[in-house]
Amino acid sequence: MDSVEVFKGIRFPGFMHTQESLRTACGFQFQDTDVLLVTFPKSGTTWMQQVLSLILCKGHLWPIHNVPNWERAPWLEQNSFVKLLGNLDPSQPRLLTSHLGAEALGPALLHSKARVVYMARNPKDVLVSFYYFHKLAKFLPDPSSFEDFVAEFLEGTGFFGSWFEHVKGWLGLEPDLNMLFVTYEELHQAPRATLQKLSDFLGYPLGPEEEDFVLEHCSFPFMSQSSVVNYSLVPKEVMDPSQGRFLRKGVMGDWKEHFSPEQNEKFNTVYQAKMGNLGLHLPWT
Ligand code: PPS
Repeated sequence: MDSVEVFKGIRFPGFMHTQESLRTACGFQFQDTDVLLVTFPKSGTTWMQQVLSLILCKGHLWPIHNVPNWERAPWLEQNSFVKLLGNLDPSQPRLLTSHLGAEALGPALLHSKARVVYMARNPKDVLVSFYYFHKLAKFLPDPSSFEDFVAEFLEGTGFFGSWFEHVKGWLGLEPDLNMLFVTYEELHQAPRATLQKLSDFLGYPLGPEEEDFVLEHCSFPFMSQSSVVNYSLVPKEVMDPSQGRFLRKGVMGDWKEHFSPEQNEKFNTVYQAKMGNLGLHLPWT
Protein backbone atom coordinates (compact mmCIF):
# COMPACT_ATOMS: atom_id res chain seq x y z
CA MET A 1 0.00 0.00 0.00
CA ASP A 2 2.94 2.35 0.45
CA SER A 3 3.20 3.47 -3.20
CA VAL A 4 4.65 6.92 -3.79
CA GLU A 5 3.59 9.85 -5.94
CA VAL A 6 6.36 12.39 -6.51
CA PHE A 7 5.03 15.86 -7.31
CA LYS A 8 7.23 18.95 -7.69
CA GLY A 9 10.05 16.96 -6.10
CA ILE A 10 8.02 16.03 -3.00
CA ARG A 11 6.84 12.53 -2.05
CA PHE A 12 3.14 11.96 -1.33
CA PRO A 13 1.45 8.67 -0.41
CA GLY A 14 0.13 7.10 -3.61
CA PHE A 15 -2.76 5.62 -1.64
CA MET A 16 -4.68 8.91 -1.73
CA HIS A 17 -2.75 11.06 -4.22
CA THR A 18 -2.32 10.91 -7.99
CA GLN A 19 -0.53 13.28 -10.36
CA GLU A 20 -3.95 14.37 -11.51
CA SER A 21 -5.32 15.01 -8.01
CA LEU A 22 -2.21 17.02 -7.11
CA ARG A 23 -2.37 19.05 -10.34
CA THR A 24 -6.10 19.66 -9.87
CA ALA A 25 -5.43 21.10 -6.40
CA CYS A 26 -2.87 23.55 -7.80
CA GLY A 27 -5.40 24.89 -10.30
CA PHE A 28 -8.37 24.97 -7.91
CA GLN A 29 -10.76 27.91 -8.33
CA PHE A 30 -11.32 29.20 -4.81
CA GLN A 31 -14.47 31.07 -3.90
CA ASP A 32 -14.11 34.14 -1.70
CA THR A 33 -16.24 32.44 0.96
CA ASP A 34 -13.96 29.37 1.16
CA VAL A 35 -12.05 28.63 4.34
CA LEU A 36 -8.82 26.73 3.72
CA LEU A 37 -6.89 25.07 6.54
CA VAL A 38 -3.23 24.51 5.64
CA THR A 39 -0.81 22.49 7.73
CA PHE A 40 2.32 20.40 7.53
CA PRO A 41 1.16 16.91 8.62
CA LYS A 42 0.85 16.27 12.36
CA SER A 43 0.54 19.96 13.23
CA GLY A 44 -2.99 19.67 14.62
CA THR A 45 -4.96 19.44 11.35
CA THR A 46 -7.74 17.25 12.75
CA TRP A 47 -8.05 19.41 15.85
CA MET A 48 -8.38 22.57 13.76
CA GLN A 49 -10.80 20.88 11.34
CA GLN A 50 -12.98 20.19 14.38
CA VAL A 51 -12.67 23.75 15.72
CA LEU A 52 -13.44 25.34 12.35
CA SER A 53 -16.37 22.98 11.69
CA LEU A 54 -17.78 23.82 15.11
CA ILE A 55 -17.48 27.57 14.51
CA LEU A 56 -19.04 27.36 11.06
CA CYS A 57 -21.86 24.93 11.93
CA LYS A 58 -23.86 27.58 13.87
CA GLY A 59 -25.27 25.01 16.25
CA HIS A 60 -26.23 22.44 13.58
CA LEU A 61 -24.43 19.51 15.09
CA TRP A 62 -25.44 16.63 12.89
CA PRO A 63 -22.20 16.80 10.83
CA ILE A 64 -20.05 17.10 13.98
CA HIS A 65 -21.45 13.79 15.24
CA ASN A 66 -21.98 11.98 11.95
CA VAL A 67 -19.64 13.17 9.20
CA PRO A 68 -15.93 12.25 9.25
CA ASN A 69 -13.49 15.15 9.30
CA TRP A 70 -12.12 14.18 5.88
CA GLU A 71 -15.61 14.66 4.41
CA ARG A 72 -16.43 17.84 6.36
CA ALA A 73 -13.13 19.46 5.38
CA PRO A 74 -11.77 17.47 2.41
CA TRP A 75 -8.13 17.62 1.37
CA LEU A 76 -7.79 19.53 -1.90
CA GLU A 77 -4.96 17.36 -3.20
CA GLN A 78 -6.45 13.94 -2.50
CA ASN A 79 -8.04 11.73 -5.12
CA SER A 80 -11.40 11.75 -3.29
CA PHE A 81 -11.60 15.57 -3.38
CA VAL A 82 -13.80 16.20 -6.41
CA LYS A 83 -16.44 13.76 -5.18
CA LEU A 84 -16.36 15.08 -1.60
CA LEU A 85 -16.49 18.71 -2.73
CA GLY A 86 -19.81 17.93 -4.44
CA ASN A 87 -21.26 16.82 -1.09
CA LEU A 88 -20.50 20.06 0.77
CA ASP A 89 -23.46 22.25 1.72
CA PRO A 90 -23.51 25.06 -0.87
CA SER A 91 -25.29 27.41 1.58
CA GLN A 92 -22.27 27.32 3.94
CA PRO A 93 -18.67 28.48 3.48
CA ARG A 94 -16.74 25.46 2.17
CA LEU A 95 -14.18 24.18 4.66
CA LEU A 96 -11.17 22.73 2.81
CA THR A 97 -7.84 21.32 3.95
CA SER A 98 -4.38 21.02 2.40
CA HIS A 99 -0.89 19.84 3.27
CA LEU A 100 0.53 21.34 0.08
CA GLY A 101 3.36 23.85 0.19
CA ALA A 102 3.00 27.52 -0.71
CA GLU A 103 4.90 27.12 -3.97
CA ALA A 104 2.32 24.58 -5.16
CA LEU A 105 -0.91 26.12 -3.87
CA GLY A 106 0.00 29.81 -3.50
CA PRO A 107 -0.65 30.80 -7.15
CA ALA A 108 -4.24 29.49 -7.01
CA LEU A 109 -4.90 31.58 -3.90
CA LEU A 110 -3.19 34.81 -4.81
CA HIS A 111 -6.18 36.49 -6.45
CA SER A 112 -8.76 35.14 -4.04
CA LYS A 113 -10.21 36.48 -0.80
CA ALA A 114 -10.64 32.96 0.56
CA ARG A 115 -9.71 32.79 4.23
CA VAL A 116 -6.58 30.74 4.92
CA VAL A 117 -5.86 29.39 8.41
CA TYR A 118 -2.25 28.24 8.60
CA MET A 119 -1.54 26.08 11.65
CA ALA A 120 2.02 25.31 12.77
CA ARG A 121 3.37 23.22 15.64
CA ASN A 122 6.72 22.83 17.34
CA PRO A 123 8.60 20.86 14.66
CA LYS A 124 10.15 18.56 17.25
CA ASP A 125 6.66 17.47 18.32
CA VAL A 126 5.60 17.24 14.66
CA LEU A 127 8.54 14.92 14.07
CA VAL A 128 7.65 12.63 16.98
CA SER A 129 3.97 12.51 16.01
CA PHE A 130 4.91 11.83 12.36
CA TYR A 131 7.30 9.05 13.43
CA TYR A 132 4.47 7.21 15.22
CA PHE A 133 2.09 7.94 12.35
CA HIS A 134 4.49 6.19 9.97
CA LYS A 135 4.06 3.07 12.11
CA LEU A 136 0.27 3.43 12.28
CA ALA A 137 -0.50 4.34 8.66
CA LYS A 138 0.02 1.50 6.21
CA PHE A 139 0.31 3.98 3.31
CA LEU A 140 3.61 5.25 4.75
CA PRO A 141 6.79 3.20 5.08
CA ASP A 142 7.78 1.97 8.54
CA PRO A 143 10.62 4.15 9.83
CA SER A 144 13.88 2.21 10.06
CA SER A 145 14.90 3.99 13.27
CA PHE A 146 14.16 7.21 15.16
CA GLU A 147 17.71 8.36 14.40
CA ASP A 148 17.15 7.97 10.63
CA PHE A 149 13.76 9.64 10.91
CA VAL A 150 15.33 12.70 12.57
CA ALA A 151 17.95 12.88 9.81
CA GLU A 152 15.33 12.66 7.06
CA PHE A 153 13.16 15.31 8.74
CA LEU A 154 16.11 17.70 8.99
CA GLU A 155 17.03 17.08 5.34
CA GLY A 156 13.40 17.71 4.36
CA THR A 157 13.35 14.65 2.13
CA GLY A 158 10.54 12.78 3.87
CA PHE A 159 6.90 12.50 2.80
CA PHE A 160 5.22 15.90 2.28
CA GLY A 161 8.63 17.59 2.01
CA SER A 162 10.41 19.94 4.38
CA TRP A 163 8.69 21.33 7.47
CA PHE A 164 11.04 24.33 7.27
CA GLU A 165 10.15 25.17 3.65
CA HIS A 166 6.45 24.61 4.37
CA VAL A 167 6.32 27.10 7.23
CA LYS A 168 8.62 29.63 5.57
CA GLY A 169 6.76 29.38 2.28
CA TRP A 170 3.34 30.05 3.78
CA LEU A 171 4.59 32.79 6.10
CA GLY A 172 6.13 34.43 3.04
CA LEU A 173 2.68 34.58 1.42
CA GLU A 174 0.94 35.97 4.51
CA PRO A 175 0.99 39.63 3.33
CA ASP A 176 -0.65 38.65 0.01
CA LEU A 177 -3.37 36.39 1.38
CA ASN A 178 -6.36 36.68 3.68
CA MET A 179 -4.47 34.52 6.15
CA LEU A 180 -4.38 33.83 9.89
CA PHE A 181 -1.31 32.12 11.34
CA VAL A 182 -2.02 30.06 14.48
CA THR A 183 -0.04 27.53 16.43
CA TYR A 184 -0.94 24.24 18.07
CA GLU A 185 0.69 25.60 21.20
CA GLU A 186 -1.51 28.69 21.47
CA LEU A 187 -4.64 26.59 21.01
CA HIS A 188 -3.33 24.37 23.81
CA GLN A 189 -2.30 27.13 26.18
CA ALA A 190 -4.98 29.75 25.50
CA PRO A 191 -7.88 27.85 23.94
CA ARG A 192 -10.57 30.47 24.49
CA ALA A 193 -8.51 33.41 23.25
CA THR A 194 -7.42 31.40 20.21
CA LEU A 195 -10.99 30.36 19.51
CA GLN A 196 -12.06 34.02 19.66
CA LYS A 197 -9.28 34.97 17.25
CA LEU A 198 -10.42 32.24 14.85
CA SER A 199 -14.12 33.04 15.07
CA ASP A 200 -13.44 36.77 14.52
CA PHE A 201 -11.29 35.92 11.50
CA LEU A 202 -14.09 33.80 10.04
CA GLY A 203 -16.67 36.49 10.78
CA TYR A 204 -18.63 34.13 13.04
CA PRO A 205 -18.39 35.69 16.51
CA LEU A 206 -19.50 33.34 19.31
CA GLY A 207 -21.19 34.02 22.63
CA PRO A 208 -19.63 32.64 25.85
CA GLU A 209 -21.90 29.57 25.90
CA GLU A 210 -21.15 28.81 22.26
CA GLU A 211 -17.46 29.10 23.07
CA ASP A 212 -17.87 26.62 25.95
CA PHE A 213 -19.61 24.26 23.60
CA VAL A 214 -16.89 24.46 20.94
CA LEU A 215 -14.14 23.99 23.53
CA GLU A 216 -15.85 20.90 24.95
CA HIS A 217 -16.31 19.31 21.51
CA CYS A 218 -12.74 19.95 20.37
CA SER A 219 -11.13 18.69 23.58
CA PHE A 220 -8.72 15.77 23.35
CA PRO A 221 -10.97 13.51 25.51
CA PHE A 222 -14.06 14.26 23.39
CA MET A 223 -12.26 13.83 20.07
CA SER A 224 -10.55 10.62 21.23
CA GLN A 225 -14.00 9.06 21.75
CA SER A 226 -15.60 10.41 18.57
CA SER A 227 -15.42 7.89 15.73
CA VAL A 228 -15.80 10.64 13.10
CA VAL A 229 -12.56 12.35 14.14
CA ASN A 230 -10.45 9.62 15.76
CA TYR A 231 -9.95 7.66 12.51
CA SER A 232 -11.41 4.46 13.96
CA LEU A 233 -13.71 4.30 10.90
CA VAL A 234 -10.67 3.69 8.71
CA PRO A 235 -10.07 -0.02 7.88
CA LYS A 236 -7.24 -1.69 9.77
CA GLU A 237 -5.44 -2.32 6.47
CA VAL A 238 -5.08 1.49 6.22
CA MET A 239 -4.38 2.35 9.86
CA ASP A 240 -3.44 -0.52 12.08
CA PRO A 241 -4.89 0.03 15.60
CA SER A 242 -2.44 -2.51 17.03
CA GLN A 243 0.26 0.07 16.22
CA GLY A 244 -1.26 2.91 18.23
CA ARG A 245 -3.93 5.59 18.06
CA PHE A 246 -4.28 8.55 15.71
CA LEU A 247 -5.07 10.82 18.68
CA ARG A 248 -1.96 9.59 20.40
CA LYS A 249 -1.05 11.98 23.25
CA GLY A 250 -2.11 15.48 22.24
CA VAL A 251 0.50 17.20 24.39
CA MET A 252 3.20 19.81 24.00
CA GLY A 253 6.83 18.83 24.44
CA ASP A 254 6.62 15.06 23.91
CA TRP A 255 9.87 15.45 21.95
CA LYS A 256 11.70 15.66 25.29
CA GLU A 257 10.83 11.98 25.87
CA HIS A 258 12.35 11.01 22.51
CA PHE A 259 15.30 13.22 21.52
CA SER A 260 18.80 12.44 22.75
CA PRO A 261 20.90 15.50 23.73
CA GLU A 262 22.86 15.04 20.48
CA GLN A 263 19.72 14.88 18.34
CA ASN A 264 18.40 17.98 20.07
CA GLU A 265 21.61 19.88 19.48
CA LYS A 266 21.68 18.87 15.81
CA PHE A 267 18.03 19.87 15.43
CA ASN A 268 18.65 23.28 17.03
CA THR A 269 21.59 23.94 14.73
CA VAL A 270 19.57 23.14 11.61
CA TYR A 271 16.58 25.10 12.92
CA GLN A 272 18.75 28.14 13.57
CA ALA A 273 20.33 27.92 10.12
CA LYS A 274 17.00 27.63 8.33
CA MET A 275 14.70 29.79 10.48
CA GLY A 276 17.02 31.95 12.59
CA ASN A 277 17.17 34.98 10.32
CA LEU A 278 13.38 35.29 10.00
CA GLY A 279 13.09 37.01 13.38
CA LEU A 280 10.01 34.93 14.23
CA HIS A 281 8.75 34.68 17.79
CA LEU A 282 7.10 31.28 17.84
CA PRO A 283 5.99 29.53 21.04
CA TRP A 284 8.77 26.94 20.79
CA THR A 285 11.68 29.36 20.20
S1 PPS B 1 -2.65 14.61 10.06
O1 PPS B 1 -2.41 13.14 9.80
O2 PPS B 1 -1.65 15.44 9.41
O3 PPS B 1 -4.03 15.01 9.73
O4 PPS B 1 -2.43 14.73 11.64
P1 PPS B 1 -2.81 16.02 12.50
O5 PPS B 1 -4.26 16.00 12.78
O6 PPS B 1 -2.24 17.25 11.87
O7 PPS B 1 -1.99 15.80 13.83
C1 PPS B 1 -2.27 14.77 14.75
C2 PPS B 1 -1.73 15.27 16.08
O8 PPS B 1 -2.65 16.24 16.64
C3 PPS B 1 -3.06 15.78 17.92
N1 PPS B 1 -4.43 16.21 18.23
C4 PPS B 1 -4.75 16.93 19.31
N2 PPS B 1 -3.97 17.49 20.27
C5 PPS B 1 -4.62 18.16 21.27
N3 PPS B 1 -5.96 18.30 21.34
C6 PPS B 1 -6.77 17.75 20.40
N4 PPS B 1 -8.09 17.89 20.49
C7 PPS B 1 -6.16 17.05 19.32
N5 PPS B 1 -6.63 16.40 18.23
C8 PPS B 1 -5.57 15.88 17.58
C9 PPS B 1 -2.95 14.27 17.80
O9 PPS B 1 -2.99 13.65 19.07
C10 PPS B 1 -1.60 14.14 17.10
O10 PPS B 1 -0.51 14.51 17.92
P2 PPS B 1 0.33 13.45 18.82
O11 PPS B 1 1.49 14.25 19.35
O12 PPS B 1 0.76 12.35 17.90
O13 PPS B 1 -0.59 13.01 19.90
